Amino acid sequence: MKNVLVHFKTDQEIKTLLAQRLGEKARVFHIEGPRATLSDIHILLTSNRTLGGDPQIIGEMGNLELIQSVTAGVERFPFHLIKQGIIVCSASGALSRAIAEHAFALILALAKNIVCHTKAMREGTFDNSVQSKELLGKVIGILGFGSIGREIARIARGFAMKVFAINRSGRTDFDCDFIGTLADLDHILTKSDVIVISLPLTKTTEGLIGRHELERMKEDAILVNIARAGIIEQGDLYRHLRDNPRFKAASDVWWRYPEDRRGGTSRQDHPFHQLGNFLMTPHVAAHVVGARKRMFEVAVENIRRYLNGEELMNIVRREDYL
Ligand SMILES: NC(=O)c1ccc[n+]([C@@H]2O[C@H](COP(=O)([O-])OP(=O)(O)OC[C@H]3O[C@@H](n4cnc5c(N)ncnc54)[C@H](OP(=O)(O)O)[C@@H]3O)[C@@H](O)[C@H]2O)c1
Repeated sequence: MKNVLVHFKTDQEIKTLLAQRLGEKARVFHIEGPRATLSDIHILLTSNRTLGGDPQIIGEMGNLELIQSVTAGVERFPFHLIKQGIIVCSASGALSRAIAEHAFALILALAKNIVCHTKAMREGTFDNSVQSKELLGKVIGILGFGSIGREIARIARGFAMKVFAINRSGRTDFDCDFIGTLADLDHILTKSDVIVISLPLTKTTEGLIGRHELERMKEDAILVNIARAGIIEQGDLYRHLRDNPRFKAASDVWWRYPEDRRGGTSRQDHPFHQLGNFLMTPHVAAHVVGARKRMFEVAVENIRRYLNGEELMNIVRREDYL
């Protein structure tokens, strides 16, 4: 019998899900319930922000075997404190389609000038002189061809776009027009009309897109980031957008977050909100109805597999973060 600690507050629906799926193979403790002895815990069910904000708990869990996140991103995990041999898994895949749809909402809004037109008409101006962009036959460069990246490619195929992509192996079963690795970044940047970032934030991808890379993109390219802000150099993106009005970008992810994400003040180091060629959403790509339950379902299914000795999904490579 293994002991599972749920690292955050949950509601009755999630408690029932845990009880039903993990059955008799695990004893489930809740952080808000009767205090479990941390040294007895084998499996920690947590999230990127929860464990990132409470890293010292790892040191108290001498018998930890598995850390399962309910989030796809795990860059805030204290990898330096997690001993070799402890398996770390993300919940990648739970909401990939929703996130890919959001990426496309941003791409289309930029290509068709939706926000500018709405703003002008709200202010009483009728101006149809601005031309929009067609996606048909254009190249979409997808940086990070995992669960989200492949969903983006599926939608792009519906628009008859050419798909260029990058992953670690440089191989994929998906019918791409080009697949490569980071060694091919320049090729993708120069050839793409639309570039979407769907990479994890790791020691390799942090600051990957800076002034040089932005200058290699087409003058009128569309860049969309739904992964993590730290993959792009904030100041370089701001200056590139400011100095190249034909270049457009959108981001769902931020360098700075307010303490309160449900109504706090949005503030970055540069005045992105003043740029007409930049669209912003407050990290909502995955916030679709039923999202929370789906994240838990993926995470709990992985714990079930672990308890039954089955193959795990989404094992994180700790060396990517150390
Ligand atoms: N905006 C939001 O609300 C939101 C929600 C969920 C996730 N995210 C972010 O999106 C990221 C991606 O999620 P996912 O579920 O698609 O993850 P995933 O399935 O693990 O895919 C990651 C992709 O990135 C590639 N990759 C990783 N390191 C690389 C490197 N150094 N060089 C080239 N390719 C590299 C992987 O290559 P291989 O396939 O070869 O391994 C894989 O194709 C998450 O890590 C998270 O930060 C954002």
